[in-house]
Amino acid sequence: MPEFENTAILGAGVIGMSWSALFLASGRNVAVFDTAPQAEKATRDYIDMAWPALTELGLVRAGSPGRLTFHKSASEAVKDADFVQENVPERIEIKTALYTEIEPALKAGAIVASSASGLTLSEMQAGWKHPECFVLGHPFNPPHLIPLVEVLGNHATLESAIDGAEKFYKDVGKITIRVKREVPGHVANRLQAALWREALHLVKSGVASVEDVDTAVWAGPGMRWAVMGPTMLFHLGAGAGGIGSFCERYTASFNRWWDDLGTLHLDAGLAKQLTQGMAETVGEETPASLSTKRDALIIALQKATADLR
Ligand SMILES: NC(=O)c1ccc[n+]([C@@H]2O[C@H](COP(=O)([O-])OP(=O)(O)OC[C@H]3O[C@@H](n4cnc5c(N)ncnc54)[C@H](O)[C@@H]3O)[C@@H](O)[C@H]2O)c1
Repeated sequence: MPEFENTAILGAGVIGMSWSALFLASGRNVAVFDTAPQAEKATRDYIDMAWPALTELGLVRAGSPGRLTFHKSASEAVKDADFVQENVPERIEIKTALYTEIEPALKAGAIVASSASGLTLSEMQAGWKHPECFVLGHPFNPPHLIPLVEVLGNHATLESAIDGAEKFYKDVGKITIRVKREVPGHVANRLQAALWREALHLVKSGVASVEDVDTAVWAGPGMRWAVMGPTMLFHLGAGAGGIGSFCERYTASFNRWWDDLGTLHLDAGLAKQLTQGMAETVGEETPASLSTKRDALIIALQKATADLR
């Protein structure tokens, strides 16, 4: 039996359904609680949809959708759990009320991880009397397909809980990074925000269309970023001298570009411009059909590169 054999999922929306499928695939029991009456059917349908992809990616290890159970309360769902993944809406009052409710029901030493994208661990710790085993475990959508999970604890967290969470995520097939200090948006969302700010600046200032700015990312540097990080790629960008030579060659260029980057905020006018630009880009395609295409491309990329890592 795997370590952390009993898991619980609190909140089975976009993120919780995907985590459920992955945890089941890894051979765990998954106990779910969600306040929405339709959540059980939606989750079971989602798992059926995700299972072929998980199988293709080699992530199904003696797992079975039959190990999924739905529960009438959060306390009941977590009572036997060794690892709990919380995915309720990104509102501090909902998260802290839930933690206060489940804390007395948890097994000693159970690790509870929050998927929160923007709230900090310190803010969420307000819901706990003893937050030692409460960590951030931030995935990327959809968690059963995108490898990254950002793990963070702070002065109030046991090192063993952070280590345990990393061990668990690695065992279900994820790649983890450890965030050393709390900042809004952790690491990867800040990187996305930095790039997207400049993408919108280029659109707003008429340099290129929404479609062309998107193409400039996925057909250009995005293709490389899917296989290596930006600093590693620049280490390869100036011959044998590596990143030192690259910095020497391009200091003036980067400083000039950085000085010229936009510093806008998202507002109603810009949202309208993006909505129009996206309508021109996608034509008749729906978000559902585009999501299917996205997932197929992600699966193909991961399969094609798995043996080369
Ligand atoms: N969507 C993303 O791209 C993404 C990516 C990474 C992390 N996250 C984070 O994951 C968390 C969940 O986001 P989501 O996109 O899945 O939201 P969502 O709205 O799709 O799902 C939230 C679910 O929680 C349920 N819920 C509400 N109150 C509850 C309660 N008290 N107890 C149990 N269930 C409850 C809702 O019925 C819903 O099914 C958020 O913290 C979000 O920031 C989201």
